[in-house]
Amino acid sequence: MSDYSLAPGAPRPRRLRRSPAVRRLVSEHRLHAADLVLPMFVKESLSEPVELQGMPGVHQHTLDSLVEAARAAADAGVGGIMLFGIPAERDAVGSGAWDPDGILNRAIAAVGAAVGERTVVMADLCLDEFTSHGHCGVLDAHGEVDNDATLDRYAQMALAQAAAGAEVLGLSGMMDGQVAAVRHALDAAGRSDVIVLGYTAKYASAFYGPFREAVDSQLEGDRRTYQQDPANGREALRELELDLSEGADIVMVKPGLPYLDVLAEVAAASPVPVWSYQISGEYAMVEFAARAGAIDRMPAILESLVAFKRAGADAILTYWAAEVAGELGRSR
Ligand code: PBG
Repeated sequence: MSDYSLAPGAPRPRRLRRSPAVRRLVSEHRLHAADLVLPMFVKESLSEPVELQGMPGVHQHTLDSLVEAARAAADAGVGGIMLFGIPAERDAVGSGAWDPDGILNRAIAAVGAAVGERTVVMADLCLDEFTSHGHCGVLDAHGEVDNDATLDRYAQMALAQAAAGAEVLGLSGMMDGQVAAVRHALDAAGRSDVIVLGYTAKYASAFYGPFREAVDSQLEGDRRTYQQDPANGREALRELELDLSEGADIVMVKPGLPYLDVLAEVAAASPVPVWSYQISGEYAMVEFAARAGAIDRMPAILESLVAFKRAGADAILTYWAAEVAGELGRSR
């Protein structure tokens, strides 16, 4: 008996950690395939899929390889697929975004036909992939992003995506009033069925780095006049209030791991589902650390994802969605 033995009846939290079965029984949060959404990239000019250097395991797809990978993700049980399109030609206003024959709109229709009702088809609603300058909106005469002129374009884009069959529109552009503009346009066109996902708290993050390669970003400079300052937490609650009042069906906090405090606050305050996006840089950090032998890859992935659940996320956008959905299916 040690000099420091606990008294009889003393609290011993370790009792609930004593075996895998007990730990499983008392686990507060669980990952489920249905909570995972897979972001995917389709690029018009490709004849073969291309693996991204900054995101090993993630591809820019052709329309054909996209459909095949989307089918596999649906088979694995992912909750949804979020599509991003990279057009062959760009212009100042991003007109490929609302062209029914634009790459993203064709991809929405093709993926929708392939997966049917087995998973939810979503589309990124933002102009940055479609503009020649790479900004999320159109520019005014001084080269500044013109908020209200951009809203008209978002409304057009929303109608095209809805017509192509997108069930959820992901408004990632951080223009003021974007949720209201898209909701009104959809309702006026008789599309009150289409779900609006507001990227409510989206920060101007350095961790978007690898995404720039994924979408062949044309951006010079940054997005700090529309995305939030990483120093500001309280401001996320103001954005939440606005998105709710404008009719957002689901709200988002992005990035994920560096902003779990914001996620927890938004989750505590929101009456609608709260999602979070584990972004490209978060993915890259784990992949490259694992390749260097510094961390054990799959346990690190699962730990990072359960952290989102613990902070209050209802669903998570992650580039590992299909792989983890498969992994969870196997370990059941
Ligand atoms: C912009 C957009 C970005 C991401 C998703 N939508 C980049 C940005 O805001 O600069 C980043 C996603 C990621 O990094 O994985 N519409």
